[in-house]
Amino acid sequence: MLVSATEMLQKARDGHYAVGQFNINNLEWTKSVLLTAEETKSPVILGVSEGAGKYMTGFKTVAAMVKAMVDTLGITVPVALHLDHGTYEGSKACLEAGFSSIMFDGSHYPIEENIAKTTELVALAHAQSVSIEAEVGSIGGEEDGVVGMGEVADPAECARIAGLGIDFLAAGIGNIHGKYPANWKGLDFDALAKIHNATGGIPLVLHGGTGIPAGMIQKAISLGVSKINVNTECQLSFAEATRKYIEAGKDLQGKGFDPRKLLAPGAEAIRATVREKIELFGSAGKA
Ligand code: 13P
Repeated sequence: MLVSATEMLQKARDGHYAVGQFNINNLEWTKSVLLTAEETKSPVILGVSEGAGKYMTGFKTVAAMVKAMVDTLGITVPVALHLDHGTYEGSKACLEAGFSSIMFDGSHYPIEENIAKTTELVALAHAQSVSIEAEVGSIGGEEDGVVGMGEVADPAECARIAGLGIDFLAAGIGNIHGKYPANWKGLDFDALAKIHNATGGIPLVLHGGTGIPAGMIQKAISLGVSKINVNTECQLSFAEATRKYIEAGKDLQGKGFDPRKLLAPGAEAIRATVREKIELFGSAGKA
């Protein structure tokens, strides 16, 4: 069974740790994340971007696969299936498909429009006991080879969005998706402290969890961050392990071409990355 992310994130906030959101792309990814969460006795959030949803042939396929896998693997830790950076239409599609949590990313709309759309989606999500994340201040990242620096959210705007009844809030504090460039200035902790004070203790979300030094992660958690998203780091460890397997060559001459064997080192590598993050975020043993 899937659960909304509200309770697990409130517990994380009160217990001063963070729950990891690990993005999934296929069956191997999903299995690796679920097994590692179970092994470490950690609550977990499976993130699905709109692109990954399309790749897996649609949100209904994803929801059916995840629900069945939680059941057949005998997963006992709380698992939320969450739409990552959803559009207005994508958010509605995930509510229909049976996701237990959604993110509506209205950060690119003028604030009044972000508020109107978030308000509508809060009502729809809560009518189905689905949790909802909203965003203020866009998270930068690489697009077409150009790395955009993340915006820093305005605490007053964060307070307005937090007041709409959302369950957790993503606020830009100079974090970006993908690898951080060499000239990155680090997270803006002054802004985070102001946002934390202005938003009445709502669990805060840190996107762009790949490559943030451990000390900054711990400081962010101490300032109200209760959910940390990781995607690129799993992709990098998967790709690197797969490359090594193929370069080793000899394996491919036996039965190594079998996709179950070919994808196994990558799946193992994802498990190692997820375990490391769960330990760093402090959620091990909290399920
Ligand atoms: P990274 O790809 O930088 O780990 O960020 C993931 C993320 O924030 C997904 O929303």
